Amino acid sequence: MQSAGKLLITHDFTFALVEVKLSSLLKMVPGGAALLDAEIEKETVNHTTYSLLITPSDWLIAPCSSFFVQSKAAVGLFPSALEEKQQLTLPEVGYSSERVLSELAAWKKYDADGRGRAFAYVYDNDDQAIQQTVTRAANMYIHSNALSPLAFPSLRKLEVECVRMTLNLLHGDAKESCGTLTSGGTESLMCAIKTYRDRARDLWPWITEPECVLLSTSHPATIKACHLFDVKCVFVPVDQKTQTATAAEIAKYITPNTIVIVVSAPQYPHGVMDPVADVAALALANKPHALPVHVDACVGGFLLPFVEELGYPVPGWDFRVKGVTSISVDLHKFGFTHKGASVLGFVNHASYRKYQFFAYTEWPGGLFVSPSLLGTRSGSAISAAWSTLVSLGKTGYMRLAKQTMEAAKKFQSGINKIKGLEVIGQPVMSVTSFHSVDPNLNIHIVADTMEKVCAAGGGGGGGDGSVDDHSRFVCVCVVLCFGGGVVVVM
Ligand SMILES: Cc1ncc(COP(=O)(O)O)c(C=O)c1O
Repeated sequence: MQSAGKLLITHDFTFALVEVKLSSLLKMVPGGAALLDAEIEKETVNHTTYSLLITPSDWLIAPCSSFFVQSKAAVGLFPSALEEKQQLTLPEVGYSSERVLSELAAWKKYDADGRGRAFAYVYDNDDQAIQQTVTRAANMYIHSNALSPLAFPSLRKLEVECVRMTLNLLHGDAKESCGTLTSGGTESLMCAIKTYRDRARDLWPWITEPECVLLSTSHPATIKACHLFDVKCVFVPVDQKTQTATAAEIAKYITPNTIVIVVSAPQYPHGVMDPVADVAALALANKPHALPVHVDACVGGFLLPFVEELGYPVPGWDFRVKGVTSISVDLHKFGFTHKGASVLGFVNHASYRKYQFFAYTEWPGGLFVSPSLLGTRSGSAISAAWSTLVSLGKTGYMRLAKQTMEAAKKFQSGINKIKGLEVIGQPVMSVTSFHSVDPNLNIHIVADTMEKVCAAGGGGGGGDGSVDDHSRFVCVCVVLCFGGGVVVVM
């Protein structure tokens, strides 16, 4: 590997010293330069350092979010054993089955443990029998393509049922509400922003520089969606104590160019709910036209309905709230399905979802219609999603939610009992963040120790969730562990 810059990462993983070339690259990443400067200033030189040689192109290919949000993961990026012998051209003669499988098995050892110990990456239900059924279901559809519901009508049925089951959980109107199955939260958010952009073009053509009002804690997938669809992000800073903003505060950021407001239920960095009902009321009352409100419930949407039914307090966030026009809910998070499944639900088709679809009639290859961003879509993720939903059923999800919440509550009250630590804001489900309120207590050391004790594979330790001041905190999530039990993962 060529070295154009040398990155030194300190033992407690806050990246400390970066040579000049690399730091100029970092400055290209929004927030990167300031974060880096702050870290370099804070760091003392007496930490043990690891060194990682990395080229600018590697740096850019490496998930920047892992560096910035989960810097600990960066220390273990690209284990050298995986780089030693690479197959960079097609082998002249194909590998034997034994070789393929044994090589994969050898490399996979370096990956995070996917079975319930890699928060943000893998969400497993704990039922091995169901997992086996779902894997078989996925294999049945491995060569199906949801691009054509005519060729694969059974996939259409599975898709429609996944969407409807989800909309029911969200209290969508049985006749009016509608949705689409997408490949994940990012695609759902992209479809949402595209919908609102095209709707604004249709209804409010005088808006030439459309804006999306969102909180600084919004998931970057929304920011990416705005970037791709040429919608300007107008960030509302959050209150440092609550990690959300009031509707009154959000109102200050609405302009004549606003086309949508995005709030989260809950937001990912701290598990805190944004004030969905107040924002929806604000949006409905907006003049000269009501504004649509998208609720990003990608992480919480499949857990909150069961949390509420268990009797925990959950502020209004779904289609029962008048003024909420769309909701994104990932099935591949707390729906515990295989990767590649999310639902984007709309309050109705005629005013909203129709702007999401794309149809092209002039192509010599025939009529091309696609509801979401992708063309060809694997049937596996869809059949796995459907199979998981119907295998777990309501009883299964209630059981999982109960176990998860009981452990989460214990964890949250435990943290607050520890002198010097404090849970941030009011987490509504199992995603929880806490920070140090004692200047002598280094939160990174707490994170390091927890990671050792929890033996959590993969994922990051300390999070840097605040775009504004780069305050440090630990983000954890209580999830179920494959084979039974509940673990805290970071
Ligand atoms: C609130 C929220 N929105 C969007 C996303 C993006 O989802 P995905 O990684 O499935 O694209 C996430 C992922 O964690 C999330 O927590």
